[in-house]
Parts: sequence; structure tokens; C-alpha cells
Amino acid sequence: MTGQNNIHIPLVDLGAQYRSIKNEIDAAIANVIARSAYVGGTFVEQFEREFAAAVGAKHCIGVGNGTDALLITLKALGVGAGDEVIVPANTFIATAEVVSALGAHVVFVDVREDDFCLDVDLVRKKITKKTKVIIPVHLYGMPASMDQLLALAREHGILILEDTAQAHLATYNKRTVGTLGVAGTFSFYPGKNLGAYGDAGAIVTNDGELATKCRMFANHGRAKDEKYDHQIEGCNSRLDGLQAAVLSVKLKHLPEWTKKRRAVAKKYTELLRDVPELVPPKTFAERESAYHLYVVRAKERDALRMHLKEEGIEAGVHYPIGLPYLNAYRHLELNKPDDFPVTYRLQSEILSLPIYAELSDPDLLRITDTIKNFYRVS
Ligand SMILES: Cc1ncc(COP(=O)(O)O)c(C=O)c1O
Repeated sequence: MTGQNNIHIPLVDLGAQYRSIKNEIDAAIANVIARSAYVGGTFVEQFEREFAAAVGAKHCIGVGNGTDALLITLKALGVGAGDEVIVPANTFIATAEVVSALGAHVVFVDVREDDFCLDVDLVRKKITKKTKVIIPVHLYGMPASMDQLLALAREHGILILEDTAQAHLATYNKRTVGTLGVAGTFSFYPGKNLGAYGDAGAIVTNDGELATKCRMFANHGRAKDEKYDHQIEGCNSRLDGLQAAVLSVKLKHLPEWTKKRRAVAKKYTELLRDVPELVPPKTFAERESAYHLYVVRAKERDALRMHLKEEGIEAGVHYPIGLPYLNAYRHLELNKPDDFPVTYRLQSEILSLPIYAELSDPDLLRITDTIKNFYRVS
């Protein structure tokens, strides 16, 4: 039973965000319709320019979604049969399934307990002559150990492709993630920190040749502006005008929203300091998380989640099953607890608490009080 007078607190509140920018969004959508600029064209080009500038990359290619962004970039990098690609064991399946889709081998590596991202020492052990790309995922918005990964990749002549789906405007040593490796891929799925009103994604890179290849592959292998002159076989994965216009409006607000997410995270950590049953996300001097999710490690996680639900508070688990433990990867026969001990343990400990720019102080306090009440901390 939801506690009396307790209004539901969702994990993500897209309605609250829309209400805060309704006039701008409605005008932008009307403008696209008035100009019939639905696929490609001025709104897409404008967003690509703005997003490249926002992250500090030379090129941005808008695509259909974050999964395609990964697939197209790997394809443009020449990944195919016989290649190995290193992927974290704890991430969303998209990071891994694109590797298999290209006929290459997914090589899972466990994550660190303190940042939930790739463990570089373990990555080193999995490198072989066939390793072509490492895909660090800046999970929950927290940048992975990029200096160490880039040094390791240089040493072995391997490429780093950053899966930045959850980390818009996160920084590592003051540089925006997604621009540190050969390319970065973004998802603009509605619930992401920068979310479209449907599926959308982007690739950013400083490599002009790679950008041209990605753009060509994403648009039926077309040479620019040549509708029926196909240089290669590609696919159809384009950002559409409506999504681009929505994203341009939201991008203006993203720095402020990111600041607010960071402030919410800081308050959570302060308010939950005295709860020994919880481990809050760690902070690092050289990294600034975008806090796509605020993930704690909790004793009695499932009971706590149920208690929050009964009090009208939605919490999530990202992800309840580590990738090697999914049926989809059963054939790899790497699904014993000891194969990926951190990922295995996190499955039963991690809990994502509500976080968004519009989360009010009273709601935040209600969430932390409810948690304290569950553990009976006064
Ligand atoms: C880490 C990660 N990679 C890739 C993706 C795929 O993005 P999309 O849903 O836009 O295809 C997501 C989205 O959930 C993600 O969280």
C-alpha cells in the first residue's frame, strides 16, 4: 500500500521536464512541420553542429539510436569476423550485441567495484593479437579509467570506442567523455540525460575519414548529396528532423540539468552518510559524473526496493543480470559466479534511486527518510 498522502516519485520524470520547456519544444516541433524538414536537412545539421561543439568534437553524425551508433562506428573501423572486442560484463546489452552482429567475438571483462566501469588490470589480461577495439562504457554517467585504458590501447595498437550512452557532458580530466578515444557514441533514448521524443543517437569523432565513413554507412552508402550514387552497401539509420529540433532545444538546458543532477547526487550522499547498510557512488578527483543514475549498493536490496515501492517511490536495478549471465551469452560458458565476481555480486546489491533535474528537496528527503526508516537509522 502506498503511504497516505504520498505522491508517486518516479525513477525518471519526463513529464516534469517537458512542462519546464513546453513553449520552446512546442514551437520547435511546429517549426519542423511548417518546413517539412523531416529527414536530414537544416534541423539535423544544426543539432549536429551544436552537439559537436557541446562535447568538443570536430564531427557529429546523427543516427537512429545509440545501438546503431555503436554498430556503425565499429563497422567503419573495420571490425568483422575474427576480431575480438572487449566489453564490460556490466552494461546494457547493446554494447555487446553490436559486436556479435558484425561477426566479431565479444570478450567480457569484469568491472571495478568502486566505479562500476572496466577494470583495466583485467582488460590487460584479456588482450590478444585479435583484439581490435576496447569499448569502455561510462556507466551510470561515471567516466571509466580513461588514462589507463588509453595508455594500454596505445601500447597494443588497439582502438578505444567510448560508449557514452549514459554520460552526456561527463568529464575526465576536464575533457568531455566521448572525445577521448577514436570515437564516442551517444544514445538520446527519451530517459537519457539528453533525451529525444523517440529513438535517436549520435557518433562524435575528431577523425574526418572515420566521420565520412560513418555518415555514408548510416545513409545507404551514399556519397554526400548524391541520392542514387551508392559507394558501398550501408543501412538506414538517420536522425530525423523532429528529434533533432527537440534535441537542440534540450541541449541548451543540458549544462544546467547536469549541474542539478550533480547537486541531487551530492545531497543523496550527504543524507545517506549515516546508513552503514548503503554504499553510495564514489567520487573521483579527475572525473565528473553526469549522474545518469544514482546507484547505491544496498544490503537487503530487494526488500528495500519493495519498501520504497510500498511508499510510492520507484527504484530500479541496472542491471539485474550481468551480460555473461544472460541466456543470450550462455554459449560462451562463462557464467559461473567466479568468472565475473564483481558483476555477479552487483546483481544483487545495486539499486538506482530517482534522479532528475526537477527532483525537489522535499521528495529527496522523503526518499532518504524512507530508506533510513527501512534500516531504522534515526
Ligand atoms: C550503455 C548503453 N549503450 C548503448 C545503449 C543503446 O542506446 P539506444 O537505446 O539508443 O539504442 C544504451 C541505451 O540504453 C546504453 O545504456
